[in-house]
Amino acid sequence: MALSTAFTEMFGVRHPIALAPMGGSAGGALAAAVSLGGGLGLLGAGQGDEDWLARELPIVAGSGRPWGVGFLSWAAGVGAVEQALEYGPRAVMLSFGDPGPFVERIRAADAAVIVQVTDLEEARRAVDLGADVIVAQGTESGGHGARRGRATLPFVPVVVDLVAPVAVLAAGGIADGRGVAAALVLGAAGALIGTRFQATSESLADAAITEAIVRGRAQDTERNAVLDIARGARWPTTKYTARTLGHPYLDRWRGREAELAADPEARAAYQTDVARGVVPPLPVWAGEGVDLVNDLPPAADLVAALATQAENALARAGRP
Ligand SMILES: Cc1cc2nc3c(=O)[nH]c(=O)nc-3n(C[C@H](O)[C@H](O)[C@H](O)COP(=O)(O)O)c2cc1C
Repeated sequence: MALSTAFTEMFGVRHPIALAPMGGSAGGALAAAVSLGGGLGLLGAGQGDEDWLARELPIVAGSGRPWGVGFLSWAAGVGAVEQALEYGPRAVMLSFGDPGPFVERIRAADAAVIVQVTDLEEARRAVDLGADVIVAQGTESGGHGARRGRATLPFVPVVVDLVAPVAVLAAGGIADGRGVAAALVLGAAGALIGTRFQATSESLADAAITEAIVRGRAQDTERNAVLDIARGARWPTTKYTARTLGHPYLDRWRGREAELAADPEARAAYQTDVARGVVPPLPVWAGEGVDLVNDLPPAADLVAALATQAENALARAGRP
C-alpha cells in the first residue's frame, strides 16, 4: 500500500518523502537518486553559485523524474533562480529570509513554490505569498534554522492547522520511516529529510563528514553560531544558528559569540587551523536524528526503505 498524500499527488511522486536541499551535500546525483527512488529530490543550491548550478542542474534534470531546487532567500539572487528554472524544476524551495522577491518568477515558470518556515509569522507570510507547500522546520533539524526554533512534534500540527489547506512537510529529526509515519499522523503531507540523506553514497559531503554522521550521537549535536562566526560565513547569526556535531572551536568559544566576532585574530587562527588540518574544513551539520543513521546506503534504496518502514509503522500503531 503506497502512502498517498496531497504532496505525492501534487508532484506525481510515489512516496511522501523529500530530500532537503542541503547546500554542499544535495548535488545533482543525490537529488536525482531520491527522485528515481520515488521521492522528490531537491538540489541544494544554497547561495546560488552559478558554476555549481551549471554543473549540477543537468544531472538532476536528467533523472526524467519530478525534481526541485532549493535556495537560501537571504543570499541567492533572482538570476540564480532563473538559471535553475531553465532546467524545468517542478518546485523551487526558499528558506531563511524573505521569499517574496522570487515568487513571481517561479510561478511564471509553472513551478511550485515551497517555503521553509521556522515560526508562525513566517508560515502566515508564506500563505500570503501563495506558497504551494510549506515546510515546518523544527529545531531538532541539522544545519541552519532559527536561533529561537520550535520542536518538530508540537510545531508541525500548529502549522498544519494554521495554513490549511496548504500542504505541509515536516522537517527536523526525521531519520527513519517511523519519523515519516509520525509526520503523516501530525497532519503533514510528507517529510523533508536532510541529515539522513547526507550519509548516502551519492551525497557530495566528504567521506570524513559522512563517517562522522554515521558515528555521531545526537547528544553531541548543538545549535550554535560560533562556527559560522569563526569561519567568516555571511549567515545572519542574530536570527539563525546551525546544529552541528562537536568541534574544538565550539568548546573554546561557546557563550562568547560577540567576543569571537570582534576578534579578527581568533578568526584568522581558525583559517590557519583549517589549513594545517587541525580542524576540519567544514563543520559537520547534523540533526538530532543522527542516532538513527548507521549506514551509507544508495539514496534510492533509502527512500524505498523509509517508505516501507513508514507503512509498517502506521499499520502497527495502536496495536498491542
Ligand atoms: C548539511 C545540511 C545542509 C543544509 N543546507 C540547507 C540549505 O542550503 N538550504 C535549506 O533550505 N536548508 C538546508 N538545510 C536544512 C534542511 O532544509 C532541513 O530543514 C533539515 O535538514 C531537516 O532536519 P534533519 O537534518 O534532521 O532531517 C541543511 C541541512 C543540513 C543537515
